[in-house]
Amino acid sequence: MKLILLGPPGSGKGTVAQMLAKDFNFAHVSAGELLREEIKKGTTLGNDIKKLVETGALVPDLLVTEIMKLDVSSKENYIMDGFPRTLTQAEAIEDLDIDMAIYLEVPDEVVIDRFAGRRTDPVTGDVYHIKHNPAPAEIQDRLVQRKDDTPETVKDRLVIYHKQTQPLVDFYEKKGILKTIDGAPPPKKVYEVVKKVVEEFSK
Ligand code: AP5
Repeated sequence: MKLILLGPPGSGKGTVAQMLAKDFNFAHVSAGELLREEIKKGTTLGNDIKKLVETGALVPDLLVTEIMKLDVSSKENYIMDGFPRTLTQAEAIEDLDIDMAIYLEVPDEVVIDRFAGRRTDPVTGDVYHIKHNPAPAEIQDRLVQRKDDTPETVKDRLVIYHKQTQPLVDFYEKKGILKTIDGAPPPKKVYEVVKKVVEEFSK
């Protein structure tokens, strides 16, 4: 099964993807994570990506499409999180025959509130929230905050999202593979609905 997770920054794509990956044994392929791995390598390419990601700007379509397609080429069941993010990217993966696009609908004011409390585990890549989804006590000391989670960058990321990514909701709706889910309730509630939708599809 090939899934896409759509939604604004902070809508819970990473959180839902990590839960789906555990329950259904899907590979969780996060565009943001793959780009952050490239940044960590400190290569010229990584440094160029860093400049864009830290200001909230999008990385060029061709580059991110190549990275994602290469990663999923060896996989059968996967969830793409944070990709595609532009119409150009969506058109470039038409050959992958995506089964379903899950759209987590969350208003801007709700996602803005989530960023201040987001923490990531640098060892596993798992995402937590100090209030809504706390990490186990034994790993809390190693959690880090993402550099692109400052209020200014979040505002810019939301502007880019509405302009460049939201049109994909229509794109997948027209293809008849869109499932819109209210992403505003607490993580477990959102996941219950997502899980049901995926189970229905796999029957
Ligand atoms: P990326 O890492 O993909 O960031 P994003 O899409 O902006 O999404 P986030 O990871 O910020 O949020 P999320 O929806 O995964 O929410 P999360 O589960 O963490 O991309 C980063 C950057 O890389 C981009 O800005 C761009 O520069 C570049 N990039 C990436 N993909 C690209 C592409 N395709 N093309 C070009 N450039 C690209 O949840 C957020 C917080 O809320 C967490 O703390 C979580 O615990 C909490 N939470 C989650 N769900 C709930 C809930 N239901 N209720 C309460 N709290 C919740």
